Amino acid sequence: MSKPPANRFRPSDHAFAAESLAQIGRGYVVPDRVALITGCSSGIGRELALALHRRGTIVIATARRAESLQELADLGIATEALDVNSLADINRVVYAIKTAYGRLDILVNNAGYGQMGPLLELDTRALEAQFRTNVFAPMALARACAPLLRSRNRGLICNIGSVSGVMPTPFSGAYSASKAALHSLSDVLRLELKPFGIRVMTVQPGAIASEFGRHAESSLRGVLAPDSWYKRSEDAVHARAVESQQNATLARDLAKRLASELLRKRPRPVLRYGNKSKLLPWMARWLPRRIREWLLLRRFGLRRLQANP
Ligand SMILES: NC(=O)c1ccc[n+]([C@@H]2O[C@H](COP(=O)([O-])OP(=O)(O)OC[C@H]3O[C@@H](n4cnc5c(N)ncnc54)[C@H](OP(=O)(O)O)[C@@H]3O)[C@@H](O)[C@H]2O)c1
Repeated sequence: MSKPPANRFRPSDHAFAAESLAQIGRGYVVPDRVALITGCSSGIGRELALALHRRGTIVIATARRAESLQELADLGIATEALDVNSLADINRVVYAIKTAYGRLDILVNNAGYGQMGPLLELDTRALEAQFRTNVFAPMALARACAPLLRSRNRGLICNIGSVSGVMPTPFSGAYSASKAALHSLSDVLRLELKPFGIRVMTVQPGAIASEFGRHAESSLRGVLAPDSWYKRSEDAVHARAVESQQNATLARDLAKRLASELLRKRPRPVLRYGNKSKLLPWMARWLPRRIREWLLLRRFGLRRLQANP
């Protein structure tokens, strides 16, 4: 793990961590919880690492590119390179945590991205990649971390879902389905892990200011062919990709709220936060399907296509 400044608690230094654990017995105050967060290069993950660190949690902030974590490392946060799609990376990081701390209290599965585009124009590889990162990777991390989370009978797995998983829209079908799957897996995990003292919560953010829109836009590269059925609605496809960045709530605000929730004795099973995080689920639940679909067809330029085949 990276080296924080010498005058700070150095959670990345194994010997130092062992000494800190020993200090517990001698009555010294040491940070209370150990938290592993994925996808900390920007946005929600980065802000959450900072928010938890400020509250005295030992944070292991991870991202695929180690250099993107330098700022966090400079603040004394332990950092590790971790591509959530690499089982070797996952095992290496979990082993390092086990060696350094002997426990883990909180796992935040935050890393993710939005594969945008009309469903039939996404090839199978794009769909598989979306599910690999947003669904299978969080499960692999949960599996690898479970023994450490169980050790103190108060572990917590926090999966970052999305309001898109509750209210799917055109041109975000792959992303919405991946987040809906993550919500569903989390609901079952919550029950299956309860007997072992591991709690599971889902966060369903609304629009949050981050790099999400930029990554979603680049996911569209090569998706719309020149003879695409959706060519005339291309603007709507691109607008959907960056929609999360319109009137977005600050990632810092979500992180502050989430950090408080994660450190509670009984965190709520589902947390909705951010612009439209209440409105969209309300629409999904209460608006008659016909009205909802009429609104979506209009909003995403699909009525335009219908009128001019
Ligand atoms: N922003 C929103 O409006 C919004 C709304 C609802 C839900 N969410 C969810 O919130 C989570 C965080 O997104 P964000 O808004 O903070 O966007 P972001 O700024 O784009 O951050 C996404 C993070 O995930 C990382 N990531 C992607 N694939 C990865 C992989 N294979 N291995 C490791 N890291 C990977 C990115 O790393 P790189 O820098 O290496 O790409 C980045 O650190 C995501 O799960 C997203 O679906 C966001």
